[in-house]
Amino acid sequence: MAFVTEADAAKAVAEKVARSIHAKPDLVLALPTGRTPLPLYRELVRRHLSEGLSFKRVHTFNLDEFRGIGGDDPASFRAYMDRHLFSKVDLDPARIHFLDGLAENVKQECDRYEAELRQVGGLDLAIVGIGGNGHVAFNEPGPAVVPWTHLVKLDRQTRISNAPLFGDDPSRVPLEAFTMGLETILRAAEIALIATGSSKAEILAQALEAEITPKIPASLLRKHPRFSVYADEAACSKLESRALSVLI
Ligand code: PGA
Repeated sequence: MAFVTEADAAKAVAEKVARSIHAKPDLVLALPTGRTPLPLYRELVRRHLSEGLSFKRVHTFNLDEFRGIGGDDPASFRAYMDRHLFSKVDLDPARIHFLDGLAENVKQECDRYEAELRQVGGLDLAIVGIGGNGHVAFNEPGPAVVPWTHLVKLDRQTRISNAPLFGDDPSRVPLEAFTMGLETILRAAEIALIATGSSKAEILAQALEAEITPKIPASLLRKHPRFSVYADEAACSKLESRALSVLI
């Protein structure tokens, strides 16, 4: 679905979240971080405060986390989520699931995350963004996808785009991160991709209109029968078919 502004796109995703919670109060949500979801989190907080939207029984699983920093480090995705959403709505802390960047045993940590997901019945709705290089969560472009939660080496471009969390110094961005795998995400009952701003126009066009390939991880989302795209006009500007809704 194409929207004029990023605020309109955020409102539409928030509406989808609200409807999903009403239909299933113990909804299992996958959540992204970064610049793109900020208007969504603002809108969810607004709906909680002024419309009584309750997250009490919702489970959240964030898509990814940097390795080597703890959740109390202000640069961590956990701290980002605390700042922008978790501290402002009525989520039950026991239902907030996060990858632990300080976990020493990588395999055990990845297995724990997948097991927690299975325990609650899997993801109902995965909300994801798209990186400038086409990544989804921290699944970077490559010859093949790693299906399940795993440790990745971050691309140079990804470290540069995450530098604002680290005092604008890309060299301080961790070299590695934990991420859900593409299959973890594709197993969700429904996937919503948010893409806003002209910086996403080129990669969004490739992800939606070029071949489906692990070289553009977001293109693999098209294999999902309930995949929708929430994009603003700027992000849609390089699409050949300007009517985004016909693509999804
Ligand atoms: P951004 O990140 O929202 O900060 O552009 C998106 C992503 O890397 O998935």
